[in-house]
Amino acid sequence: MARTTDVVFAGGGVIGLAGAWEAAQRGLSVRVVDPAPGRGAAWVAAGMLAPVTEVSFGEDELAHLFAAAAARWPGFASRLEAATGWDTGFRACGSVAVALDASDRAEIDQILEFHHRLGLDASRLTPSECRALVPALSPSVRGGAMMPGDHQVDNRAFLLALIDGCVRAGVELNRDRVVSVSLDHAGSAAGVVTDGGEIFLAGSVVLAAGVDTPRVGGLPEGVVPPVRPVKGHVVRLHAGAREAAFPHPVRGLVHGRHCYLVPRADGSVVVGATSEERGYDTTVQAGAVHSLLDDARLLVPALDEWELVECIAGLRPGSPDNAPFVGPTAVPRLAVATGHYRNGFLLTPLTAESLAAYLATGTVPPPLDAFPADRHLPAARAGSEP
Ligand code: GLY
Repeated sequence: MARTTDVVFAGGGVIGLAGAWEAAQRGLSVRVVDPAPGRGAAWVAAGMLAPVTEVSFGEDELAHLFAAAAARWPGFASRLEAATGWDTGFRACGSVAVALDASDRAEIDQILEFHHRLGLDASRLTPSECRALVPALSPSVRGGAMMPGDHQVDNRAFLLALIDGCVRAGVELNRDRVVSVSLDHAGSAAGVVTDGGEIFLAGSVVLAAGVDTPRVGGLPEGVVPPVRPVKGHVVRLHAGAREAAFPHPVRGLVHGRHCYLVPRADGSVVVGATSEERGYDTTVQAGAVHSLLDDARLLVPALDEWELVECIAGLRPGSPDNAPFVGPTAVPRLAVATGHYRNGFLLTPLTAESLAAYLATGTVPPPLDAFPADRHLPAARAGSEP
């Protein structure tokens, strides 16, 4: 029988792996159970770290949370890189938002105003200033804005670094699927049960299974917060021998549609992403790929010559208010970390540090404490016992 650990994470996506790594840094013994660690939604993602451009107007509280999350990135990336020797591809490079028509430009002006209201740096760009920053942009671009606070990480390098970091820190990785939480006679979480019937006992259980979190069984009704799958298609292109003229990520507004192009050091670019309510469906659909490519090549015509290397779709865990669920549940010794929606990578360091603090002290620290994990559940507030 496997040894009992201080904590077991059900789910080894970016949130579960980072939480596990951070908890191990604090001296806890940790296990992660996932059939394919790092291969869920986070593997599909582009790794944009955009605290403002991923929120809607009026979501000021969320924007403040995201700005706090962004501030954690440089320290977290450098600690992980120092611990593993990996280059995670974290780049404090700023992004360039560009507009293709007058109404797109008006929307960029609103995004600029939102930045300024939040006290964040961002400046308007003329069409020629846009092209000076990203020479491959189409001459049809009508203007844009520089967002110095929008950064990026290479999602796949970061995930591989996290797995390596976990292994080096003594985290046990079990390639199994969690089907239920095991409760003790008092109704507290005591471990997880896998599809192979194995039980991994632990002092605390963290459900960090993204969109699959509500599918984990063994729990009373009203314990797991509501998350829903929001499908995102992404395509990856490679410049081949051509010059990869993408010094900054580009966020495009294309006749009212949103699109982003995130450059990688290896000469590739990640183009994303659709947002579709289609349940648990990850099939890659021709229409979605067509519209992503269509928008991307309107922004950067040279992409027509690039090699199409991957078309993929993943499921973001959406929450009713677009904020994550991180912290205790009504079941003692059971916590959750899910609902990160479009900001899984942005929120990863903050979530990991908050989870580790909660596991060590029983309290979720600010600013995530303002978003209790039971806020959309009818039952009474969750206990704080880790
Ligand atoms: N954060 C980008 C996306 O979810 O598509």
